[in-house]
Amino acid sequence: MKKIVVINSKGGSGKTTLAINLAATLAAGGEKPALLDLDPQGSATRWLGQRPTDRPFITGIEGFRNSASATRSFQLTPPHDCTTLIIDSPAGLDRRGLEAATRGADAILMPVMSSDIDIHAATHCIADLLLGEKSGSKPKLIGIVANRVKTNTRGSKRLENFLKNFDIPVVTTLRDSVNYSRSAEMGVGISEMPRWQVQKDLEAWERLVAWVSPAHKVSEHSSREVRGPMRAGLGGVVRLAFSRQS
Ligand SMILES: Nc1ncnc2c1ncn2[C@@H]1O[C@H](COP(=O)(O)OP(=O)(O)OP(=O)(O)O)[C@@H](O)[C@H]1O
Ligand SMILES: [Mg+2]
Repeated sequence: MKKIVVINSKGGSGKTTLAINLAATLAAGGEKPALLDLDPQGSATRWLGQRPTDRPFITGIEGFRNSASATRSFQLTPPHDCTTLIIDSPAGLDRRGLEAATRGADAILMPVMSSDIDIHAATHCIADLLLGEKSGSKPKLIGIVANRVKTNTRGSKRLENFLKNFDIPVVTTLRDSVNYSRSAEMGVGISEMPRWQVQKDLEAWERLVAWVSPAHKVSEHSSREVRGPMRAGLGGVVRLAFSRQS
């Protein structure tokens, strides 16, 4: 089982959006993902509660709730057939919180938006993440997801310049699109929406899934093959490509 943690101490950067869409995309491709919700806001859990029963199943684990009848580790244990555990973390985690949330992770995904405030916060979060690593522990594999990107805006240039400062790959770039709020309201992922509606977004998800899970079967919606360095799997580097806004 692979463990992917979605983090960013900044609120509203797109952690839940990223976590639920990754889970839905993997499930649509035949995997058995589990979604561990560590955020007391319970947004990922609420999304799962709205998920239509005819959609591929995703196990939900309410990590923010303390069960009186089960030990914490039992409560957080995904089913034995789970292929990928995706963890949605809350905003505001400090260095110790980040260390705890990312312990044992195979990969960390950080959605970053392009405002000055978001970039400043992301810099601190990355520093905390790296400084929180214990010496001798396995170095963490981090990928950035440039989120809510609008083409050729000052924000997109700012984000591009910021990302150049780090030796961290930009795994994919997500457009600013109402498709994300629309699909979330229905309990589905963007890759489960009608193709004509999400055509411009699918490629970005193919890139992300290929980084996370190279053996993943591309679903009927995501029919174009992903080529190039992403096939290398976790750790593959994708050039930042700004896409057009809807
Ligand atoms: N690429 C996108 N395009 C349009 N809207 C987006 C995009 N990504 C996220 N959003 C919207 O931004 C809002 C915040 O996103 P989300 O809840 O995923 O952030 P978060 O980091 O989980 O927030 P929190 O820190 O409060 O948990 C939501 O309304 C979501 O639908
Ligand atoms: Mg959230």
